[in-house]
Amino acid sequence: MKTIGILTGGGDAPGLNAVIRAVVKTAILSYNYKIMGIEDGFEGLIKPGKMRKLTLKDVSGILPKGGTILGTTNRGNPFAYKCKEDGKIVEKDYSHIVMHNVREAGIDAMIVVGGDGTLAIAQKFFDMGMKVVGVPKTIDNDLNATEFTFGFDSAVDEATDAVDRLHTTAESHHRVMLIEVMGRNAGWIALFSGVAGGADVILMPEIPFSVDSIVNKINERNERGSKFSIIVVAEGAKPIDGDESYQEVCVDRLAPRRLGGAAERLADTLFEKTEHEIRVTVLGHLQRGGSPSAYDRILGTKFGAAAVRLVSREQWGMMVGLRNAQTYEIEIKEAIGELHTVKPDDDLLISAKEMGICFGE
Ligand code: F6P
Repeated sequence: MKTIGILTGGGDAPGLNAVIRAVVKTAILSYNYKIMGIEDGFEGLIKPGKMRKLTLKDVSGILPKGGTILGTTNRGNPFAYKCKEDGKIVEKDYSHIVMHNVREAGIDAMIVVGGDGTLAIAQKFFDMGMKVVGVPKTIDNDLNATEFTFGFDSAVDEATDAVDRLHTTAESHHRVMLIEVMGRNAGWIALFSGVAGGADVILMPEIPFSVDSIVNKINERNERGSKFSIIVVAEGAKPIDGDESYQEVCVDRLAPRRLGGAAERLADTLFEKTEHEIRVTVLGHLQRGGSPSAYDRILGTKFGAAAVRLVSREQWGMMVGLRNAQTYEIEIKEAIGELHTVKPDDDLLISAKEMGICFGE
């Protein structure tokens, strides 16, 4: 009987529990494997007392649950583990501890569920001899080698609902409403929610924006009698002559820098250039929380079951992905090289432009 470990790393995403459930059910019911759940990503392989056996009962009823029942963190890279020593931040290499703890726990293979950062760590452990299978995860949909990642659809639903809500109040008050959405350095959430919510302007990291072009769009709408405008701003959006905005509050020196503030910064500039009242909404983690959409539950289920099949075929160093709506496998190292961003020939982008949505160009 094989023992398989599973961990979820990086930011959580709706659909993670569907993956865990599918892994546990497929592993036990079809392959008679034992499953060990590792808590809080790779941290659970560094610190003691963070592993537990997962049974069918543990995964019963978790499909509609957001987050991850195993916990996660985007801090604990075992190859460069940041900690405080004598008041200073130092980085330690704990990879040998992880390799030791996996062996000690009798874990034959690991299923690692995560975004590009977590999968890059998984690849490094694979290079050190760990038997690893990857499952791609992120609400940002920015991973190459998969058409979609689970979590994205739920995030888009949430953002679209917010754009819908802003529409009614923007129209009543004749305001310009800016909504900042997540997505890191990819504009997928902004593009999808902006189109689905009927935004007038969509700003994405892939297309640096000119403020004048946004002002022109607002004025053009005014002249047509639409005295309000909705602007969806990806957190990674930047002006033609400037950089991304980063959060200045709650800066966590043990975690990577967080994007944030793009919409506020733009609102300040627009305030000088239009007569309209302007308001800013930052949707933030509402996009990551809550119950997964049916699509994300299904994608998570497909990925989880397919990952166990990779384990059964001993295809180490491979990751599951989605191609033509079917799961397939690809080497992790191939999948993590480059981010999946919105390309100029994306058909939704082309259609949105043809329908008059302004991208700040
Ligand atoms: O990668 C997912 C994501 O939600 C990004 O869209 C966002 O930039 C980041 O994580 C936020 O991270 P945190 O949860 O650490 O604030």
